[in-house]
Amino acid sequence: MEKGYFITGTDTGVGKTLVTGGLAALYKSRGVNVGVMKPIATGCKRVENHLVSEDAIFLKRSAEVEDDYELINPISFEQPLAPTVAARLSNTRIDLERVHTAFDTLYDRHDFLLVEGIGGLLVPIDQYYFVVDLANELELPLIVVCRPTLGTINHTLLTVSYAREHGLKIKGIIVNESVENEDDIVKKTNIDEIKRLTDLPLLGMIPFDTRLDVENFHKETLLKIFSDKIDKDIII
Ligand SMILES: Nc1ncnc2c1ncn2[C@@H]1O[C@H](COP(=O)(O)OP(=O)(O)O)[C@@H](O)[C@H]1O
Ligand SMILES: [Mg+2]
Repeated sequence: MEKGYFITGTDTGVGKTLVTGGLAALYKSRGVNVGVMKPIATGCKRVENHLVSEDAIFLKRSAEVEDDYELINPISFEQPLAPTVAARLSNTRIDLERVHTAFDTLYDRHDFLLVEGIGGLLVPIDQYYFVVDLANELELPLIVVCRPTLGTINHTLLTVSYAREHGLKIKGIIVNESVENEDDIVKKTNIDEIKRLTDLPLLGMIPFDTRLDVENFHKETLLKIFSDKIDKDIII
C-alpha cells in the first residue's frame, strides 16, 4: 500500500478539501492512523494574531488528529491569491524547508498521509516552482478531483497529461459535484469519456449534498457518503 496521496484538482473549488477530509474520515473509520496536511493555504482568516485556513481546520476535524495546526498548515496567507502573488504582496517568499520539515514530522507520526494541493498543478509556489514540483518532491501518487460538468473533459485530460509528463503516478480520479447539477446525461457521458481517454480508474463519484459543506459539515454524513461512494477495493 502507498504511504499516502497528494490530492490535486482540475481547478480551485472542485472539492479537493472535501475529498481529502472525506478520505481521511474513511481511513480513520477503518482503523488507519491517517494524517492530513494543507502545506500552503491562501485566503486565510485572521484569528487573534494567527492566520487560520478553513481547509486545514476541516481536514484536522475530519481526520480527528491532534497534530499542531502549524504542522498541518505550515504556510498561510491572508489574501485569496496564488501563493507567489500572496507572498510577494506580503514581502516574503515561501519557505519550502518549513513545508518539508512539517511533512517529514507528520509522515513519521502517521501510517498514511493525505496532502491537499493548492489550486491545480500549475499554480506557482516560487518563481519557477509549481504545485506539480511539490507533489513530485513529496513522492506521493496523485488523486485528481474533477467536476462532472461541461468542460471537465478538457480540464481533466490537461491535468492528467501534465502530471504524467512530469513523471507523477496517478492513483485515479474522483468526480465531485461541488454545485448542484441536474444534468445526468452530461455527468454520465463525461465520466465515461474521461475513463476511456485517461485509462485511469474512477475511484468514486461524490454527489452534491448540503451536509457536505466544508464550513459547516456533518461528520456522520461525510463518512457515510464516502463509505458508500468510494471504491474501497482500490483505495484501501
Ligand atoms: N459534494 C459536495 N456537496 C456540497 N457542497 C460541496 C461539495 N463539494 C464541495 N462543496 C462545497 O464547494 C466548495 C468548494 O469545495 P472545496 O472542497 O473547498 O474545493 P477546493 O478545495 O478544491 O477549493 C466548498 O464550499 C464546499 O463546501
Ligand atoms: Mg481547498
